[in-house]
Amino acid sequence: MWNERYSKPGFLFGTDPAQFLVEQQDYLQRGKTALCIADGEGRNSVFMAEKGMKVTAQDASEVAIDKARGLAAARGASVAYRLGDLRDFDWDETQYDLVAGIFIQFAEPDFRDAIFDGMKRALVPGGILLLHGYRPEQLEYGTGGPPCAENMYTVDLLRDAFSDMEILRLEAYDREVQEGCGHSGMSALIDLVARKF
Ligand SMILES: C[S@@+](CC[C@H](N)C(=O)[O-])C[C@H]1O[C@@H](n2cnc3c(N)ncnc32)[C@H](O)[C@@H]1O
Repeated sequence: MWNERYSKPGFLFGTDPAQFLVEQQDYLQRGKTALCIADGEGRNSVFMAEKGMKVTAQDASEVAIDKARGLAAARGASVAYRLGDLRDFDWDETQYDLVAGIFIQFAEPDFRDAIFDGMKRALVPGGILLLHGYRPEQLEYGTGGPPCAENMYTVDLLRDAFSDMEILRLEAYDREVQEGCGHSGMSALIDLVARKF
């Protein structure tokens, strides 16, 4: 499904980073390592690399990763890629200074729990977790994301899921988003920034 969506010309979510990532760029520190899961066509991993981070980008779509490689090359950015389903990802192989999940709401609740657990395990102590996505109210806007309320995040859900981390930001808000044709229009968003103890 994702290969087909990405096979169309252009970049489904644009080539600019998610606004959330731009706003949290103080956490993108030169020389630190980052893992960007379900990174798609690379707009976020390339931005991290341009900030001087050593970035690994992961996605299940080979079409997306091909495009991400092209974007990185065009921007002179260096990113390492991991193609594969997050269900099979070895979260314990490497620990990173920062792990980011931006619009990863393909994951139903059980899979989401496993991803959240993996993201925590893949962080060094003191490492930063960035998570950005939609709230259930997004279904009324219909401007991006899957039509699955159970995949969306609420403040209570994230507070509970990350209660074993120091929560630095947990914010629900509505905003106009223009990120390619994939995310376009008023959106019900939620941000989490948390530090591993
Ligand atoms: C909404 S897109 C977001 C892409 C990127 N994070 C961004 O913000 O531009 C969701 C991404 O999840 C990837 N994906 C879907 N299911 C996956 C899975 N099981 N494992 C890894 N990636 C997956 C898709 O290929 C797609 O690139």
